[in-house]
Amino acid sequence: MGRRVLLIVTGGIAAYKVLELIRRGAERGLRFRCVLTRAAQEFVTPLAVASLAGEKVYSDLFSLTDEAEMGHIRLSREADLVVVAPATADMLAKMAGGLADDLASTLLLATDKPVLVAPAMNPCMWQHPATQRNVERLRGDGIRFVGPEEGDMACGETGPGRMAEPEAILAAIESLLGPGPLAGLRALVTSGPTHEPIDPVRYIANRSSGRQGHAIARALAEAGAAVTLVSGPVALPDPPGVRTVRVTTAREMLEACEAALPVDVAVCAAAVCDWRPERPAEDKLKKREGKGPPLLELTENPDILRRLAVRGEHRPRLVIGFAAETGSLLEHAREKRRRKGCDWILANDVGAGSAVFGGTRNRVLLLRDGEEPESWPEMDKQELARRLVAEIARAFGREPA
Ligand code: C5P
Repeated sequence: MGRRVLLIVTGGIAAYKVLELIRRGAERGLRFRCVLTRAAQEFVTPLAVASLAGEKVYSDLFSLTDEAEMGHIRLSREADLVVVAPATADMLAKMAGGLADDLASTLLLATDKPVLVAPAMNPCMWQHPATQRNVERLRGDGIRFVGPEEGDMACGETGPGRMAEPEAILAAIESLLGPGPLAGLRALVTSGPTHEPIDPVRYIANRSSGRQGHAIARALAEAGAAVTLVSGPVALPDPPGVRTVRVTTAREMLEACEAALPVDVAVCAAAVCDWRPERPAEDKLKKREGKGPPLLELTENPDILRRLAVRGEHRPRLVIGFAAETGSLLEHAREKRRRKGCDWILANDVGAGSAVFGGTRNRVLLLRDGEEPESWPEMDKQELARRLVAEIARAFGREPA
């Protein structure tokens, strides 16, 4: 089973605890897509939730833009588990009665996935016969409950009604989802470009956005792997649940990669600059009237992929590289796999008009030792990342998500 949670936040003071729930869950490879009811937004902002989840938050059933991007039925389908935390008495009543008058309740009625509920309310509301009737009915419908716990309430009263702590909710989530297919494995991913200084203000770089590498790091974490992402300068946020090390140059990237060893799998998706200026100037280079432009002497950068692939000690069991080519894809990729000593290569055409570099979609050819090359259709970089992770899981004899 996958690790995608549709988290529905309803309006109670305990809503503040969902920020911690998302943060800690992301560290364990859970991916949250969040829906906030109108009342929930009085207690926690969509911006805070979106920042931690690393994904946009949904709240409106009749938002044309949201429906165009992601219809509400798809929202309920593209999850492995639906969690309602905190769940108010009102939401429990709606669920028990099968009401669907806003996005949250509509999703709960439309879902075909298991539902876990973490109630939070005043003790009298919890103990009220109406609420208890609803809880019984929901249990009969197969809804799972975590909490509520007993204790001091924000309203000043004491009794049952406190939302279960984030750790307890996470334990309940994990017992329903099971561990990810890559649980217990360590992964290293390189991503983005490198910047090689010419002088203190200028550098050599390339058009890599880091989108593909970051998506792979995230997908590996969602599958339960402990992931280190070594990223060159990019304009992307650090993926949730991933240990991200930011570097600038190829040499720094190599150092950070070696520090992350040992790992089970390494995916080198960074577009590392092949060369760097031999002696970057300490001061900004000046225009010299009549003398023409300065000559830059370049020297070769370390090949990180090759270094990882040919190591004697601590060689990752699976080393995967990318080959960005502008022609004769298969031929170049085969030659590159041999030369680099890596196990798999994902070759993509980055020729003029392909829009792969910096874009959101990708199309690759997967080359593996002793196997026919596999051509994957063009797809979103995140989808490609998940497909690659499923292949990695298979290679390790794990059941993919
Ligand atoms: O040789 P080329 O740059 O085409 O190889 C691409 C593959 O090698 C990518 O996986 C890239 O991340 C990796 N690479 C590297 N270090 C370099 C150059 C490329 O890890 N210096």
